[in-house]
Amino acid sequence: MVHDAAQILVASNRGPVSYTPTGDGGVEARRGGGGVVSGLSAIGSDARSLWVCAALGEGDRHAVRQGVGEDGVRMLDIDPEVHAAAYNGIANSVLWFLHHMLYQTPLEPVFDRDFERQWEAYRTYNRAFAEALAAEAADGAAVLVQDYHLALVPGMLRERRPDLRIGHFSHTPWAPPEYFRMLPDAIAGELLRGMLGADRLGFLTRRWADAFTACCAQQLGGTDAAVTAVHALGADAEFLRERSRRPDVEERMAELREAVGPGRRTIVRVDRTELSKNIVRGLLAYRDLLTSRPEWRGRVVHIALAYPSRQDLPVYRAYTAEVSRLAAAINEEFGTGDWTPVVLHVRDDFARSLAAYRMADVALVNPIRDGMNLVAKEVPVVSDEGCALVLSREAGAHEELGEFAITVNPYDVTATAEALHRGLMMPAAERAERTKHLGAASTALPPRRWFLDQLEPLRS
Ligand code: G6P
Repeated sequence: MVHDAAQILVASNRGPVSYTPTGDGGVEARRGGGGVVSGLSAIGSDARSLWVCAALGEGDRHAVRQGVGEDGVRMLDIDPEVHAAAYNGIANSVLWFLHHMLYQTPLEPVFDRDFERQWEAYRTYNRAFAEALAAEAADGAAVLVQDYHLALVPGMLRERRPDLRIGHFSHTPWAPPEYFRMLPDAIAGELLRGMLGADRLGFLTRRWADAFTACCAQQLGGTDAAVTAVHALGADAEFLRERSRRPDVEERMAELREAVGPGRRTIVRVDRTELSKNIVRGLLAYRDLLTSRPEWRGRVVHIALAYPSRQDLPVYRAYTAEVSRLAAAINEEFGTGDWTPVVLHVRDDFARSLAAYRMADVALVNPIRDGMNLVAKEVPVVSDEGCALVLSREAGAHEELGEFAITVNPYDVTATAEALHRGLMMPAAERAERTKHLGAASTALPPRRWFLDQLEPLRS
């Protein structure tokens, strides 16, 4: 066994820390949150853990080259061109689009020689992770590989280190076989076999796990269904309750209240500005509400927190622009001297997100497809006075929350407008009662347990 080798390893594209250049040649660290971070913290000191991730920007690369780093984190300094082709090209433009079923005219998949070059970069990128993990892992260590960026890692790692216990977890939906088969056969097979290198494959819902198994059946003629497991990541109640009571959140609440104006109801959404989140149809539904039920004019405000994401991709830049354009158009059409119908914020601000959660009368979570959607689970945990949840039936969270939410077909703008109306009209007592049930369902599998449940079978 290598001295100081790790017994528990996590691998993901985006790591738990990122660095920004300070201007004087140094770097400043920023720590992220999320389920894996909080899960890892539950391990304690009996096992050495290591998180392997990619250096994502100039700041990260700077840090790696200067030897700056955190204990327990190893950042891989991968050739930026290889990373761009693997991350923007394959992971976010092909695999994300497939699993979220986002392809539509004129955004059709084109699998040409360029794609093949990007796929080669994706292999190189995955190999860099497999090599680092193979070098760092103790005999029989447990390795938890995260998400679609690293689908080939389990197979590549298995080849190098048959002694390891490998898990892979998908934080996204999985495409149904009819959609998945758009991929060239050889690549579809390579992808699935890469994942099947793992001892266990984790998914957020049974629906995504079954889709994976069905793709294996179609592409490879079957697999042992027992390798898939479902772990429905829940909200971290303890953290959220504490964090949402801090002064910076109170400040943001005061600012939002000022923007909303006295006595008005609020419809809140919080998302990355992401095609699958369906923000544009959400705004269209809100416009429909103001048109078809004019009694709401001047009496409701839509707080839309839409934080730019993946801006290297032109289609995301266009989508981000469309969200701003439509919000402005609604304000132009309906706004009055003292009422701004849509309050849109695009600068990522966690305290403001929590403030919006606390004061929401209605939360709108309408993705066209989503692995889980934690916003739907976080709102009921911190809500001050109860909140009606308008929830897409295509979000993974719907499996657990559907019973207490107002369910919508995310493509149906008219029905979404009606659902918003129903949410706004819901009596306070019913809202509070539903929020209680939503909160309980949302916190059933907190991040630490979610993480340990995946780890345990690999360590026993
Ligand atoms: C999804 C993925 C994550 C990813 C996150 C943010 O939740 O499942 O793996 O980290 O989106 O996307 P980004 O491209 O900014 O890492």
